[in-house]
Amino acid sequence: PFNEDGSRRTDTHVYDGVKFPWYVPRTSLEAMQSFEVRPDDVWICTYSKSGTAWIIEIVWKILSASGDIKGDEPLDKAPYPDFHVFGPVPNHEMLTKAPSPRLIATHLLPKFLPPQLLEKQPKVLYVARNPKDVAVSNYHHCNTLPNIKSFDSFQDLLNDFMSGEIIFGEWPDHVLYWWKKRDEDNVLFSKYEDMKKDLVGTVRMVCKFLGKSLTDEQINSVAQQCTFDAMKKNKTRDNLCVIAGIDPKDTPFMRKGKVGGWKGSFTVAQSEKMDKWYHEAIDGTELSFEF
Ligand code: A3P
Repeated sequence: PFNEDGSRRTDTHVYDGVKFPWYVPRTSLEAMQSFEVRPDDVWICTYSKSGTAWIIEIVWKILSASGDIKGDEPLDKAPYPDFHVFGPVPNHEMLTKAPSPRLIATHLLPKFLPPQLLEKQPKVLYVARNPKDVAVSNYHHCNTLPNIKSFDSFQDLLNDFMSGEIIFGEWPDHVLYWWKKRDEDNVLFSKYEDMKKDLVGTVRMVCKFLGKSLTDEQINSVAQQCTFDAMKKNKTRDNLCVIAGIDPKDTPFMRKGKVGGWKGSFTVAQSEKMDKWYHEAIDGTELSFEF
């Protein structure tokens, strides 16, 4: 992931109207069209910075406790099929050889997802988070990770976020697509703010959705291992950065883990502008968030 002069790559490209970072190359996006989905896959679909690593950890610990996943914890518990960060083999190719059940994560907007996701109907877990906290988390993500283009100011991030020029594209398109699918049997739509309120209840709900019966003790243990503090201490997500050549102290994956942290970053004017944008996007959809 380096340029010829030894600096890190931070370039982006536009594919079908959406901006992508260099590590989501056109070839991988094209490959999604024929990517083979398995009915027993578990897909984690999220808008970036909405709690992806958190739900991955919960699902992984449940499948591990139920005996569906065996062996040591891999560095990458849920590879992104559209990513090709380093080495000659893109993730989508590597995933074709992975044993079932595969855990697969993606931030892709619906139009880029493998068509087989609809046909094979694997279990899909969606996590949505209020867009103000997503924006702040995104800003820190882009400005801490050396392999992503940083923003000169939070206002610049907000402009891109609300216009959909941000990498991976529009928040409303993403969240509303899965919100409309919330009642389908293979979809579990959850919110970050609810997970914060009741982690044990979340683990129980995910267990039921996955069709796994764990004891109360196992459920409590999974929840215990998936608190913010436990995940920060165990550095699972950060270790993944190490293989990408990023100093683990520089990773923004376990940053604050709060609801409402946006209040320290938004000006009143910025907040009002986002309120307007938010209401225009989601009013009338029955979806709402806690801020
Ligand atoms: P903050 O930057 O607001 O702290 P993603 O995994 O989609 O990139 O999302 C990252 C966000 O989820 C970060 O938010 C991170 O701190 C938060 N997060 C990760 N694990 C968490 C946990 N166990 N509990 C609460 N928040 C968590």
